[in-house]
Amino acid sequence: VKHLLGIKELTPEDIQLIFKTAEQFKEVINRPIKKVPSLRDITIANIFFENSTRTRLSFELAEKRLSADVVNFSSSNSSVKKGETLLDTVNNILSMKVDMVVMRHSSPGAPHFLSRHIDANIVNAGDGTHEHPTQALLDTFSMREKVGELKGKKIAIIGDILHSRVALSNIYALQKLGAEVMVCGPKTLLPKHIHELGVHVSLDVKEALAWCDVANILRIQLERQQLKYFPSLREYSLYYGIDKKMLDSLNKEIVVMHPGPINRGVEISSDAADSKQSIILNQVENGVAVRMAVLYLLAQSKPSQKA
Ligand code: CP
Repeated sequence: VKHLLGIKELTPEDIQLIFKTAEQFKEVINRPIKKVPSLRDITIANIFFENSTRTRLSFELAEKRLSADVVNFSSSNSSVKKGETLLDTVNNILSMKVDMVVMRHSSPGAPHFLSRHIDANIVNAGDGTHEHPTQALLDTFSMREKVGELKGKKIAIIGDILHSRVALSNIYALQKLGAEVMVCGPKTLLPKHIHELGVHVSLDVKEALAWCDVANILRIQLERQQLKYFPSLREYSLYYGIDKKMLDSLNKEIVVMHPGPINRGVEISSDAADSKQSIILNQVENGVAVRMAVLYLLAQSKPSQKA
């Protein structure tokens, strides 16, 4: 595999290989000497056309732990503001002898477009409402660490499914690993064709929590909504917000997850997000090892080394 554009294109075996490699890197980065020379002489450009905290820092740390040379590009203070196109921007960066590109963009399909026009490895760090493959890999890796192999496990994804690239990538990854998936949210925040994805659908957050072993809770993506938002954040919080009291009322202890950033008091209360059941910071920790695994495996098929 030359690029990581989405989970849709991966096989279950690809995902298991990433997990196995990530487990090894997780051991490495918990040692006093965290660096390995695996990507020495490889140069990676992190190209972000959208805001990010976790993904950008996590990729940069993963690259540095692998001894790669790293350059960071943010569109907000670049010549994109003077009208330079995506392709011109990337071709200029590549002419400085860059081997791999990690890209976040607001347009669905932007990394797929690039992959048809440039020779470097591309990793999709989130393309609009489409996919966020490394988030789904770190989410499923973290679930597996907590509850064991995911085959037959029940995972609820709760929140703004319509605008969430995390939801779609998680659905693909979970199904490839044999888990059962339920999506839950208000009807206005569910895609029209959701049933075609082979998931259970619920409009009732209490039903979803009672059903699942793991709840992955998503924020409302106000920045992607064209029309006046419905329901309002207050209404959403009232009908779908998850708090510790709701978790305690279940006759089991479910695992609580969130990809971040959290809007505390909207989709999840602080007492639930910071509870013992929450593995939110473990997800962030695992992100570095999972991204190391992805970069390491892709580097094995560097375009210049391919037949
Ligand atoms: N989970 C996630 O993608 O977070 P950032 O937007 O901060 O990268």
